Amino acid sequence: MHFQHCITSAILLAASCSSLTFAEENHQSPFIEPSEISFETRAFWIRHANDALRYLTPSPCPFEAFGTVIVNHSSTPPDSPHGAMVCIGANAIVTGNPTLHGEIAAINNCSAVLQSDPYHLSAQEALAAFADLSLYTNAEPCAMCATAIRWAGFKELIYGTGEERLESLGWQTVGIRSREVLERSRDLSSRTRSVGSVLSNETDPYFAWQFNPMAPCPQGCLREGHVCFGQETG
Ligand SMILES: *[C@@H]1O[C@H](CO)[C@@H](O)[C@H](O)[C@H]1NC(C)=O
Ligand SMILES: *[C@@H]1O[C@H](CO)[C@@H](O)[C@H](O)[C@H]1NC(C)=O
Ligand SMILES: *[C@@H]1O[C@H](CO)[C@@H](O)[C@H](O)[C@H]1NC(C)=O
Repeated sequence: MHFQHCITSAILLAASCSSLTFAEENHQSPFIEPSEISFETRAFWIRHANDALRYLTPSPCPFEAFGTVIVNHSSTPPDSPHGAMVCIGANAIVTGNPTLHGEIAAINNCSAVLQSDPYHLSAQEALAAFADLSLYTNAEPCAMCATAIRWAGFKELIYGTGEERLESLGWQTVGIRSREVLERSRDLSSRTRSVGSVLSNETDPYFAWQFNPMAPCPQGCLREGHVCFGQETG
């Protein structure tokens, strides 16, 4: 929210304007929707969250098609005008670890990345670094992940497909929306802004085929019976 506050002095015929930015810390709502970041930039990174799947899993359309990318929007290097990518992650529960949802995998990865080349942050510095970062994920975080995002102290959470949509597609959830976690965790010292349903027209197909044999596969994948496979693997 941005308020332009102008005080005009009749005597001096001059106007003094101060632009007050109501930071979310000053208000109850942690859901300030930042307008300074364009849809184009949001879409760029949501697409990258989808793409994390093809980098990190054997198929571009795995069953657990949850991908995440963590971005520093304070940094806009010339070769990356949309912000600097810090790390990616993808759901990896197939490894036998049920907590490895895409967001948790990415937080684990960023923690390691920030403490190694080229960042070389100390453990304490790595913990503090999350406050500058934005987490993009192609589906709304579950309550476990939303809570981890709050403990990490991310500046922003941006997601594609919402949890209600996931439920309507047949996905199980624990029934606590990320928004509720953010709302109820407002006593934590950090604040996390949340922006949902960003580019969900492109994230929905990743979650639409698993429980509906009639649904088309995501782009680049073909159906064989009940499963969508990457086109190149036939
Ligand atoms: C994010 O970018 C800012 C500005 O370049 C920099 O000061 C900060 O260290 C960066 N944080 C991380 C975790 O890369
Ligand atoms: C961590 O993120 C980097 C990209 O930032 C990626 O190259 C690497 O494969 C990721 N590792 C894991 C385990 O996800
Ligand atoms: C999805 O919608 C956005 C606008 O919200 C549009 O820019 C984008 O091209 C659409 N994607 C596809 C594949 O149609």
